[in-house]
Amino acid sequence: MDKFVIKGGKPLHGTVAISGAKNSALPAMAASLLTAEPVALHNIPRVRDIITMAKLLAFMGARVSVDSFPAADYKMEAKTITHAEAPYELVKTMRASILTLGPTLARIGTARVSLPGGCAIGARPVDLHLSALERMGAEIATTHGFIEARAPRGRLQGGRVKFEKVTVTGTENILMAAALADGETLIENAAREPEIGDLIALLRKMGAKISGDGAATLRVQGVQTLRGADHSVIPDRIEAGTFLVAGAITGGDLTLINCDPEHLGATMALLQKAGAIVEMTGPHRVRVRAPRRLHAADVTTEEYPGFATDMQAQYMALATQAEGTSNINETIFENRFLHASEMMRMGAQISIEGHCAAVHGPSPLSGTTVQASDLRASAGLVLAGLVASGETIVERVYHIDRGYERIVEKLRALGAAIARVHGQSQ
Ligand code: EPZ
Repeated sequence: MDKFVIKGGKPLHGTVAISGAKNSALPAMAASLLTAEPVALHNIPRVRDIITMAKLLAFMGARVSVDSFPAADYKMEAKTITHAEAPYELVKTMRASILTLGPTLARIGTARVSLPGGCAIGARPVDLHLSALERMGAEIATTHGFIEARAPRGRLQGGRVKFEKVTVTGTENILMAAALADGETLIENAAREPEIGDLIALLRKMGAKISGDGAATLRVQGVQTLRGADHSVIPDRIEAGTFLVAGAITGGDLTLINCDPEHLGATMALLQKAGAIVEMTGPHRVRVRAPRRLHAADVTTEEYPGFATDMQAQYMALATQAEGTSNINETIFENRFLHASEMMRMGAQISIEGHCAAVHGPSPLSGTTVQASDLRASAGLVLAGLVASGETIVERVYHIDRGYERIVEKLRALGAAIARVHGQSQ
């Protein structure tokens, strides 16, 4: 397995280009199942989850073409769906495979998706996706580890779907299903993440009739068929946030380009509270300058527009370097503090009680071997490694490869001493 070797203590300087958003690209690719015509997508990040989704779509019968490898431009053409199935092998490596359920069911009236299990960050059930599809007339059984869904007479019916809890991929699945359902679907308590807005923009180009973007209530008027489209996905706000923390934690001065500052509100506000100078310097640019001293700041993870759970591990790394106690309250996932114990092995002072972590800083960190447990935890550990004395070895970096495009190359170009060491195959 590959690992990263980091020699900490170097302030990062320079400009970094932000890639397309993984969590926008995945539903956009799944949306190609809704039409027999080609869907061309651009600004796709060159990360592992995208390759997994491409494999899944190809398995289901779509023609997936790219002009180079790894590619930022994809063309998907699902003339017919030959296998209405997301097999266990692919779902277990990427839970976002569940995003094929809504579009497949809506397009051909049947779908079979392996039940995603729990993962390192929590139980992560899909009950809300399923009950919402049932509200649209789907008949669903879960047997032998699979979700088997069927739309009577081959078509889903519009209906009123009220999510008990805000779910990002749940909202995306229902949006895609509703786009091809008979009649109108009202989605209440919908997620408002920018990735939802991006999916709506793509679905509209495909001919879907959706109103209410940016709001918690979405109205979808189903249509008989959807057409192909050409779409560029939005910049990755979590990758951008990770680089903002990298600049602030290392005493650096970074400019992010190709990002969308509008999507970075909560992260920018928190870093400013911690003392960093973060400013929008152009429509797609943000500059971060580290203060002489970082101050503790409390944060609670929330649905968008609140502070993202996907930025929590990275902020925890920063909090270890801030003066005072930063209280971090994780409200989205029940087990998303696995990085804390690894940071403590590096010298961080963190006490955890239930969903709250109190980070007492500043603590000098010292490099050691640490294990990445999930995508964002890995990013948190890399950030900790950038300020630790000596050498930090981050193991299991396949997690980070799922969602960060060329992170080693990007950090090196900014002055970080980080290298990938190739190991035996995983
Ligand atoms: C999306 O996951 C993202 N993934 C996650 O990013 C992100 O952490 C998460 O949203 C929250 O922002 C993609 O977009 C592909 P949820 P998702 O359904 O949709 C509970 C990353 O690092 N829930 O919004 O799976 C759930 O357990 C990843 O890039 C149910 O109880 O998350 C959680 O507590 C990790 N039943 C909460 O809702 C359900 O049926 C929010 O989860 C669905 C969710």
